[in-house]
Amino acid sequence: MSGKLTFTMIKPGAVEKEYIGPILKMINENGFHIVAMKLLQLTIPDAKAFYEVHKERPFYNSLVESMTSGPIVAAILEKENAVEAYRKLIGATDPSKAEEGTIRKLYADSIEANAVHGSDSDENAIIEGNFFFSTSDKFFKG
Ligand code: CMP
Repeated sequence: MSGKLTFTMIKPGAVEKEYIGPILKMINENGFHIVAMKLLQLTIPDAKAFYEVHKERPFYNSLVESMTSGPIVAAILEKENAVEAYRKLIGATDPSKAEEGTIRKLYADSIEANAVHGSDSDENAIIEGNFFFSTSDKFFKG
């Protein structure tokens, strides 16, 4: 059964361009409820740990640099079938391939500075939510 929660970050480039408001508006208008949220700046060790799965990829160091270049918004979102529904709303990783009307099509600069992150599975939503929110267990346990 699909879970009701997913995890997102609004990335530094989108925060810098004052897209927090427009992106949260899209999130709410598409039926997601924000159950936890904070604005913070990732340290280099934090960003390396969060994206460790990509550590062999050529873009890893640049991604870590970009993700630590300014504040981010981290949030846990609730909706039926949350992971899949949110990935549909944000669009493809590469904004040039994202569908019209998606968050990345509207607000991303590049495949790396792609405005938002969204969990790719229920398992990763739990891991990523727990990475940022020490109290997130209570949301995931329902
Ligand atoms: P995100 O959804 O946060 O998950 C991994 C991130 O790596 C992705 O969004 C992009 O920011 C980045 N990424 C993925 N593929 C590439 C790529 N080919 N070049 C640069 N950055 C990438």
